[in-house]
Amino acid sequence: MKVIASAPAKIILFGEHSVVYGKPAIAAAINLRTYVEAEPRNDGKIRIEAHDIKVPGLTVSFSENEIYFETDYGKAAEVLSYVREAINLVLEEADKNTGVQVSITSQIPVGAGLGSSAAVAVATIGAVSRLLGLELTKEEIAKLGHKTELLVQGASSGIDPTVSAIGGFLYYEKGKFEHLPFMELPIVVGYTGSSGSTKELVAMVRKRYEEMPELIIPILESMGKLVEKAREIIVSEIDHREKFERLGVLMNINHGLLDALGVSTKKLSELVYAARTAGALGAKITGAGGGGCMYALAPERQREVATAITIAGGTPMITEISREGLRIEEVIE
Ligand code: MEV
Repeated sequence: MKVIASAPAKIILFGEHSVVYGKPAIAAAINLRTYVEAEPRNDGKIRIEAHDIKVPGLTVSFSENEIYFETDYGKAAEVLSYVREAINLVLEEADKNTGVQVSITSQIPVGAGLGSSAAVAVATIGAVSRLLGLELTKEEIAKLGHKTELLVQGASSGIDPTVSAIGGFLYYEKGKFEHLPFMELPIVVGYTGSSGSTKELVAMVRKRYEEMPELIIPILESMGKLVEKAREIIVSEIDHREKFERLGVLMNINHGLLDALGVSTKKLSELVYAARTAGALGAKITGAGGGGCMYALAPERQREVATAITIAGGTPMITEISREGLRIEEVIE
């Protein structure tokens, strides 16, 4: 038997970092996927092959341009630890001790803040649980994905595996989620070309929180309030142009607050300002920061903003929201 499952990348629109402190956040799955193929082994061993992750680079195409991402071997090894923990959790859940062979192919740049680790964990849990005949709901798979992150990186809000398993456009708070009305978001993601470690960035914010709670708590509170405001705007009846304008203002505030927490970098801020100058209504970091990606909201200006990001030294991606989360692609009996 062979099972192929896939899970999408995500972008956090509002509320990264504060979500770790129980505040709400808004995120969406995007149309870049990780594919995991799982087969049983009769020698009892667990073997993980990561073809595309091992290759230093992967290619994503949009319109007439080709994008080339550098993937370093250290990062690839980090991804494998998520796969290993995910397989162990499923074996534990199924109360089985069978050998499993897992093979990974990914379109998601590793360490770019787009949830590549969560996507690989979710796709692995989806494929291996199906292989072992374990019937898990997408929510249960998201919970196991969260457990995987906790085991590998120590702290996590669980938002990345939830968005990757469920898909679409979500409001997330303390392990619970709500679907937001689906809307096309004219966004451009800008990759700095360097990656940040979510584990280290979450730990750095925690240190600042412990050293200066009187300064950091109000920032996290503001972020939480800002997410509530964004949710009100998204569900409101106002027309799209006004929605985007108001959301753009909130994105810029959110970026400033993330900068105050210390998770921005010179390159991230350069891409953010380049996007705003080229006509984006708002631009901010997405994900843990320290490198990785920013995103801009740019109705009717996506091309111009993509060009500005390229000139500022980043790699632009015009992505779309993926309605689908975890998907079982194929089951070969
Ligand atoms: C990472 O994509 C988002 C963070 O908020 C960490 C987490 O929520 O687990 C930085």
